[in-house]
Amino acid sequence: MVGLGKVAVLGAGNIGGSLAQRLAESDLAEEVALIDIVDGLPQGKALDIQQSAPILGFSTRVTGSTSLDALEGADLVVETAGLARKPGMSRSDLLEKNAGILAGHARAVGAHAPRSVVIVVTNPVDVMTYWFRKVCGFPAARVFGESGTLDTARFRTFVAAELGVAPRDVTGFVLGTHGDTMVPILSLTSVSGVPLTRLLPPERLAAIVDRTKKGGGEIVDLLKTGSAYFAPSASQAELARAVALNEHRLLCATAILSGEFGHRDLAIGVPVVVGRRGIERVVEVDLAPPEKAAFEASVAAVRSDLDLLEKLPQPS
Ligand code: 2OP
Repeated sequence: MVGLGKVAVLGAGNIGGSLAQRLAESDLAEEVALIDIVDGLPQGKALDIQQSAPILGFSTRVTGSTSLDALEGADLVVETAGLARKPGMSRSDLLEKNAGILAGHARAVGAHAPRSVVIVVTNPVDVMTYWFRKVCGFPAARVFGESGTLDTARFRTFVAAELGVAPRDVTGFVLGTHGDTMVPILSLTSVSGVPLTRLLPPERLAAIVDRTKKGGGEIVDLLKTGSAYFAPSASQAELARAVALNEHRLLCATAILSGEFGHRDLAIGVPVVVGRRGIERVVEVDLAPPEKAAFEASVAAVRSDLDLLEKLPQPS
């Protein structure tokens, strides 16, 4: 199996820890380096994951550190650090604090892992992806965000449950921002090739779309002290695998646009092909007119968050 030398995971919270575990168990890299400012947390989680290797049979070395020097030589960096939502908070409420944390990380990635591919997970992910790339100065193809694979997984889960079919047989896309204006694309969703719109009536489809949009919030409300991490880390691992194994997967990811879908200078969820060098291309699919209108509303929501970002101290 072709894999990576080193994957660095920034942030050893629930998402970072769970992702490090998934990456190690997949044997996608020689080393998974877990990094966090809280002393003991990355080291403890790394050691715990490492001790499962004899049972699970993986060879990946898992290391934990509080120093950004541990980014040195990483081929892939996954940025999970930052505050997570609590009940009543929108993802945009996290913007200012998380932008500050990510600016320091983006500079360190530029210095220690200048050839890496970066997957940004920190919320609000569309804006944070754009911001991370602006600070580190990498080519746009090497910095992208994860949210579309997660939102699509939630959508596929709800469709599968409604129809009583295997979740993996449902394929489709949820495009746009990772927020209330995300756009589940019904016209491109099918169950083993059978269009979804032939399988469910409009009112059931509308209910599934609504639940998908609130998918992350439903879990925040249930957990009360944090946000989701099992499905998020599975989604991140899917993208990491596409990079590590140069799979050329057609997935939804948060890409920095330069004219595709009629937009530039923002990052938003669109269909992309992902391989070893990051985003190989954005795939411009035709959307039904209401979906196109919903996508434009999503772009407007991201632009309004980008305006908030512009008011913060900018990277020199
Ligand atoms: C979610 O659960 C983590 O934003 C993330 O939707």
